[in-house]
Amino acid sequence: AESLGIALIGCGTVGTGVAKILTHHANRVTTRTGGKTVAVKRVVARDAGKGRDPAIPSASVGTDWTTAVADPAVQIVVELIGGTTTAKQIVLAALAAGKHVVTANKALLAEHGQELFAAARKAERVICFEAAVAGGIPIIRAMGESLAANQITGIQGILNGTSNFILSSMADNGASYANALTEAQRLGYAEADPTLDVDGSDAAHKLAVLAQIAFGVTAKPSDIEKQGIADIQAMDTRYAAELGYTIKLLAEAWAADKTVALHVAPVLLRKTDPLAQVRGAFNAILVTGDVVGETLYQGPGAGMMPTASSVVADIIDIAVGRAQKTFTAAKLWSGSREFTIVPSE
Ligand code: HSE
Repeated sequence: AESLGIALIGCGTVGTGVAKILTHHANRVTTRTGGKTVAVKRVVARDAGKGRDPAIPSASVGTDWTTAVADPAVQIVVELIGGTTTAKQIVLAALAAGKHVVTANKALLAEHGQELFAAARKAERVICFEAAVAGGIPIIRAMGESLAANQITGIQGILNGTSNFILSSMADNGASYANALTEAQRLGYAEADPTLDVDGSDAAHKLAVLAQIAFGVTAKPSDIEKQGIADIQAMDTRYAAELGYTIKLLAEAWAADKTVALHVAPVLLRKTDPLAQVRGAFNAILVTGDVVGETLYQGPGAGMMPTASSVVADIIDIAVGRAQKTFTAAKLWSGSREFTIVPSE
């Protein structure tokens, strides 16, 4: 059978989940690719000697990403190291070497999406990023593909699992902010630097990616007004509850007259609001389209297997040639210039 070689660059929580799916569900994956076997040929990790899940072929583990990306046995480079400096070099090198790219890196796309997609167009390769926003929820395909008949007019989302986990733990279990954050880190939800989770940066990166798809705008960090949850205390969540409200960190985009406003902030939602019911590391996104009306997507937004679920879907889509349509570089980060970003009110 034809085989498809993968290089996993970064072998933390999500990389391990990807290797587990490819190992434990190998037959399913081969069926879905139309007969191609998908094999991890290279794994790049900071510490090659560390003990790992048996799904990671130990012979494949190394520390040098350049050889992994250049390996002729590799057709898809899966970038999971996070950060924006080395990650950018890896993606550009992979495209230049004729490899397709799958990434979960929202910060990278938010900051360098335009340059990376230009490189992908030039190389006639794709960059797939379903896992970059809202973990296991297929929001990129939903917005970019299934709602294609619409002009999106509003996006309202709980896009950071760690913050939502912390806020839910404080409101429901009376946990302290610090203990809830430690627990979110232990469960593999938080970024390597959890400041990005709690100060609203991670949600802003994801909002920038969604706004690019919905409005064709490339948002700079200064275009997204943001406030995090670090100042919220268990007492605030209790008082809110007594008054019939729940505190949620929301990322919002509202469009009107070809302008769009973007912001991230903790807000009080009525307990009956569907977004107020979203607990733990779950995410939810309410997307309004001018034709369809309101649509709601909900599911696990962080963690090993949900995020890996989206990465493997991208790998399968590349294998069957579907990603080459869905993730057509032409419609992403091409700067449609139809909408202008305006400051939030
Ligand atoms: N740290 C992120 C979160 C992981 O908590 O949502 C998923 O992108």
